[in-house]
Amino acid sequence: MGAYEDSHRRSLTDPEGFWLEAAGAISWTRPPTRALDDSAAPIYRWFPDGELNTSYNALDRHIEAGLGDRTALIYDSPVTGTTRSYTYTELRDEVAVFAGALRGLGVGVGDRVIVYLPMIPEAVITMLACARLGAVHSVVFGGFAPKELAARIDDATPKVIVAASCGIEPTRVVEYKPIIDTALELSAHQPEWTVVLQREQALGKLGERDLSWESAISGAIPADPVPVAATDPLYVLYTSGTTGKPKGVVRDNGGHAVALAWTMGAVYDIKPGDVWWTASDVGWVVGHSYIVYAPLLIGATTVLYEGKPVGTPDAGAFWRVISEHRVKALFTAPTALRAIKKVDPEARELSKYRLDGFKTLFLAGERLDPETYRWAHDKLGVPVVDHWWQTETGWPIVANPRGLEPLPVKPGSATVPLPGWDVQVLDGAGSRLPAGEEGSIAIKLPLPPGALPTLWGDDQRYIDNYLSRYDGYYLTGDSGYVDADGYVFVMGRTDDVINVAGHRLSTGSMEAVLAAHPAVAECAVIGVHDALKGQLPRGLVVLKAGTTISPEALQAELVAAVRRDIGPVAAFREVAVVDALPKTRSGKILRKTMRGIADGRDEPVPSTIEDAGVLDALRPILRHDS
Ligand code: COA
Ligand code: AMP
Repeated sequence: MGAYEDSHRRSLTDPEGFWLEAAGAISWTRPPTRALDDSAAPIYRWFPDGELNTSYNALDRHIEAGLGDRTALIYDSPVTGTTRSYTYTELRDEVAVFAGALRGLGVGVGDRVIVYLPMIPEAVITMLACARLGAVHSVVFGGFAPKELAARIDDATPKVIVAASCGIEPTRVVEYKPIIDTALELSAHQPEWTVVLQREQALGKLGERDLSWESAISGAIPADPVPVAATDPLYVLYTSGTTGKPKGVVRDNGGHAVALAWTMGAVYDIKPGDVWWTASDVGWVVGHSYIVYAPLLIGATTVLYEGKPVGTPDAGAFWRVISEHRVKALFTAPTALRAIKKVDPEARELSKYRLDGFKTLFLAGERLDPETYRWAHDKLGVPVVDHWWQTETGWPIVANPRGLEPLPVKPGSATVPLPGWDVQVLDGAGSRLPAGEEGSIAIKLPLPPGALPTLWGDDQRYIDNYLSRYDGYYLTGDSGYVDADGYVFVMGRTDDVINVAGHRLSTGSMEAVLAAHPAVAECAVIGVHDALKGQLPRGLVVLKAGTTISPEALQAELVAAVRRDIGPVAAFREVAVVDALPKTRSGKILRKTMRGIADGRDEPVPSTIEDAGVLDALRPILRHDS
């Protein structure tokens, strides 16, 4: 390990030098003279005296460098039968006009805009338009229910919502407007306007405070980029925590731009002009960082794909996109490959396409199981590179730095801590564990640029949730170990966050929905293994005495309630009515023990268990694949 080790060491011993140097890749209206501001530790800020505009960095500066005709964005939408490309100049012009429209609706520096858009160019345009004005976007994934949208509206208190009339799923058109209207009935905060992009698959009914996209942009004066402080927020992205209330992860402008631009070369080996494709959704952090910001910040071409890996139209959908747009590297979640493998195990569809320009497959979002790794590696014949990160961190914590120094792949490992990340494995008392021993993965503060500085409007919640477990460390919520070569193996969550088809969900919020049913005395939701989605939530409920509802009717009501309150993305379909839940003698439900059993681990049964027979009765339910 040469270049990697040097870089990692320098980033930790001389963070000022390392990150100020990386900041040179960004255009500043006022270049930073300092990197780290630790004056309010444990809340850290990066580039405190820097000033920039993220939209300028993602668009205008490439045009000023003479690259305006380069393709910035390729929209490929098998679900609508559309492909459309935007040059940097075209994308900048649309962003400037929509920024002008938002300004006309009263949006300015620091105002929040909720974005409820599917995978269409207007999603990218809206995000960059907010960035252009110094406004703060908060994108909400389309698979969430009105109640979840309402929770985000109340927390972010947006001035405007920007939405489409519908999203398109393989089995149905999802009408967004009724979801927004219901969310606004549930939320205390009322935005001034909702801008609705009308899609022909389902037009939205516009009310008094609704404007069509067309009318919003008609006559809009294109807006120039507004310089903001590097520490000003660029966006808030809500993610699941251990309670029902989602956590608003804040991303700043300066640290984000510096870190993301750095990763494109060092981690992904993508250079200006290369074609890069992230098959995720703009509603997740992977979409924010690697569909929208990072590729545009460096002047690459990003592919925006509206569709699923299979059935759009067949299991060759991904290979077609790679071949047709000459994609150099693809980033997706392992579950997408499992979906392809399920219908085309021999990857016969691959033979229809030439993938000669394709160099690397990057995977993240959930654990990469060895079988999927081997299948992808054998069929594609390119390096298959796992990497590990989180909504909070904004960019990879552990990866194989392909551009800096490609390292040998060890299946099961996300490879090594990237520069900026001081990853340590700790035991319950906070002592560092030796190589090979599994414990809680923590990161020594400060976190590098681009990682969350805090939670939206709630420094204390940030400190309580992440910084209080171990003094001086950020708690990732994942467990794992580091081997003798410094390779990191991430084994799973230590809390009640689960990962379903690469989507992060809280079992706690599902339990809250189940517990609200009048027939349910107590309940638990555990993530059980699923061959396609990695994990699926499974509910265990104990009925109240004297309940007359049939188990089948109750199950149907509970499944419908989770879909209504959290959304289809929860993929909650299974509930078992059980006699009892395992508890300690003091009455605490043994969720951790059940999680361990469901993960297939040799989970020790606590000596404080009230009745081991109850746990034994549940083992088959927890171990049984979905
Ligand atoms: N808007 C509305 N509904 C949505 C949605 C959206 N944006 N995304 C998903 N849903 C719905 C689905 O239609 C499905 O509804 P159903 O219960 O009526 O069938 C439900 O939410 C569950 O979705 P999902 O878990 O994604 O299952 P799926 O069968 O639709 O697709 C995969 C499974 C594996 C093909 C898909 O999840 C995938 O491609 N994932 C990998 C890429 C990715 O997005 N990773 C995220 C982080 S990197
Ligand atoms: P999200 O915030 O949605 O990106 O989810 C982050 C969580 O997904 C992490 O805390 C991990 O539990 C899990 N995760 C992401 N990438 C990986 C990976 N490469 N290996 C194992 N788990 C992962």
